[in-house]
Amino acid sequence: MNSPCTDSLSASELRSLDKSIVWHAFSQMQEYDGLIIDHAQGCWLTDVDGRRYLDGASSMWCNIHGHRHSHIDKAIRNQLDKVAHVTNLGMSHPTTITLAKRLTELAPAGLAHVFFSGDGASAVEVAMKLAFQFWRQCENPQTKRTKFLALGQAYHGDTLGTVSVGGVSRFHSMFQPLLFPVLRGPCPDPYRLPPEVNPANATAFYLNQYRELFEQNAEELVAVIVEPIVQGAAGVVVHPRGFLQGIKSLCEQYDCLLIADEVAVGMGRTGTMFACEHEQVSPDFLCLGKGLTGGYLPMSATLTSSRIWNAFLGRHEDLRTFFHGHTYGGNPLCAAAAHATLDLFEMEQTLRGIPLKQARMQRCLDRFKEHPEVGDVRSCGLMAAIELVQDKQTKTAHPWQQQRSGKVCKRILEKGVWLRPLGNVIPIIPPLSISEQEIDILMASIEHGLG
Ligand SMILES: Cc1ncc(COP(=O)(O)O)c(C=O)c1O
Repeated sequence: MNSPCTDSLSASELRSLDKSIVWHAFSQMQEYDGLIIDHAQGCWLTDVDGRRYLDGASSMWCNIHGHRHSHIDKAIRNQLDKVAHVTNLGMSHPTTITLAKRLTELAPAGLAHVFFSGDGASAVEVAMKLAFQFWRQCENPQTKRTKFLALGQAYHGDTLGTVSVGGVSRFHSMFQPLLFPVLRGPCPDPYRLPPEVNPANATAFYLNQYRELFEQNAEELVAVIVEPIVQGAAGVVVHPRGFLQGIKSLCEQYDCLLIADEVAVGMGRTGTMFACEHEQVSPDFLCLGKGLTGGYLPMSATLTSSRIWNAFLGRHEDLRTFFHGHTYGGNPLCAAAAHATLDLFEMEQTLRGIPLKQARMQRCLDRFKEHPEVGDVRSCGLMAAIELVQDKQTKTAHPWQQQRSGKVCKRILEKGVWLRPLGNVIPIIPPLSISEQEIDILMASIEHGLG
């Protein structure tokens, strides 16, 4: 039964309240005109007017197995019959404990401990703070280590710590006076290589620049933070092969910690359970969020090694404790959704289906490349993007104020497909459960939108 409050409001009343009261994320409220979704099933959203939309953005890159999957719904309901919330401060719950164990078994080797939070930014903040504190209380404390090395165009969330390591000036420059200084390397973007660089030497070119940064700042480095393999908010930039592996080698050489922010790319999104697996990399910290609960409930996790964990052990009065926590960290309802999400990866063999789906999407993307306004197309697993440009020859970008990709997405919406634009890029990030037939609908609608 709906609440009497929603039942009594018409669609237009809801729209009016939504525009005037609800402050939507990353939205200019003066121009806001978003959908209001009433219910969803599988890859389809239905709005309050009864119109159906294919969810081509996985409800902001987090839906994995589709909406209202009976297995996840049931797991949450079963948990609800036991207890909805148990604090993580001083107590625990079997569902959360077993989830932590399961994550450590799935994760790259050496990640034996899990800190739970509620959202992706918090998972990254936790990794950053743990790394910082580690150098102060490891066997040979190194208190000069105060700097993080981050990538150009990086996005790690919207809290001030994660904004500090972020590198998307449109989002982050406003807050500059509040941010701590960060060392910044280039974004290894294969579409925008400098003139002297080609795809064959791109990895070496970028790694050389990072080597210099490591060399010059070795004593001050706390950690390097990367979105492994694909930088999402940078425009779904797929790194040149070997870049992540090279960064890991530099970390080993200079004894620097590696934070892998897999909030967007983890949980099967790039075709492997974790993106680090593409290059057999085990980071010191693995941050998960978004798809961890299948896109159902807010939960994130920071996995780390025993080397880090051990540096925090001691008696209460030693003050080696990690004084950080979130009220809903490790929430059992979320943990139940995460367990069910992991079950489905096994039951439905989700990862096995991805290469065929990616290939089907890529075939259309390759065709779109002929379009006069499409500068680049790219994909990794079920994370794809189209980059629109003003001039294909020079790769000149449309001025962001023109919102070109937003206009194209509006036309795509007319065809019943929801995509969320990102600067001049149109990310295509459907639920991993999307069928081949639905991929055809998705791509045909994009073709229409491109005109
Ligand atoms: C790579 C990456 N890290 C962190 C975040 C922040 O996650 P949240 O929005 O859950 O705080 C995002 C969100 O898009 C992301 O893409």
